[in-house]
Amino acid sequence: MKMIAPSILSADFSRLGEQVLEVSRAGSDFLHIDVMDGAFVPNITFGATVMKSLDKLDTAPYDVHLMIEDPDRFIMDFVTEKTEYVTVHQEACVHLNRTLSHIKSFGVKSGVALNPATSLTTLENVLDDVDMVLIMSVNPGFGGQSFIENSIAKIAKLKEMREAAGKDFLIEVDGGVTLDNTVRIAQAGADILVAGSAVFGADSPGERVMTFSKLLGRA
Ligand code: DX5
Ligand code: ZN
Repeated sequence: MKMIAPSILSADFSRLGEQVLEVSRAGSDFLHIDVMDGAFVPNITFGATVMKSLDKLDTAPYDVHLMIEDPDRFIMDFVTEKTEYVTVHQEACVHLNRTLSHIKSFGVKSGVALNPATSLTTLENVLDDVDMVLIMSVNPGFGGQSFIENSIAKIAKLKEMREAAGKDFLIEVDGGVTLDNTVRIAQAGADILVAGSAVFGADSPGERVMTFSKLLGRA
């Protein structure tokens, strides 16, 4: 089943609680939590305090995307009862295998994200340790950028790699996902589609989630 994960980065932060409830009730599978440190990427978003302020609400589980240097320092802060995945960037981890074990030691699932310029071959030695691979289809840092077209081939290649290795990690795609390209991205092999501006930029984010769900053959 294809899944949808709205990125709260594009939400109206003055109404964050209301908006995450709206997209959750509309059937979102995850809330995608984009954490940026102004060092690994040229932007700063929010930290664990903001995410944890949503803990008391009945929302979809968290899919945490850490776009930060040396993420081991902060993994623990992002683990709550609602955290399902914590994803780190391959490019930010000198000891990736150790970092993935660190994530799992908290009882949550581990993800590795690859920037558009990073080769899939960098995953070869961690395929046993990942529950999810996140393919960045924009250069991370900002919402609302255009989808980088060669990501489609990269997604398809990752799906082949997964089959060849006999693994079952999920493939997530993040950046520039719209109503126009979502079916192609899903067909290429994406299991989870992240959408920020395409969801929260809509007049009704809840209805937009439902439109995505229909396009993805659900609901
Ligand atoms: C980019 C973030 C994305 C972003 C997606 O650095 O990781 O999750 O919020 O936003 P859209 O869907 O607007 O490209
Ligand atoms: Zn993201």
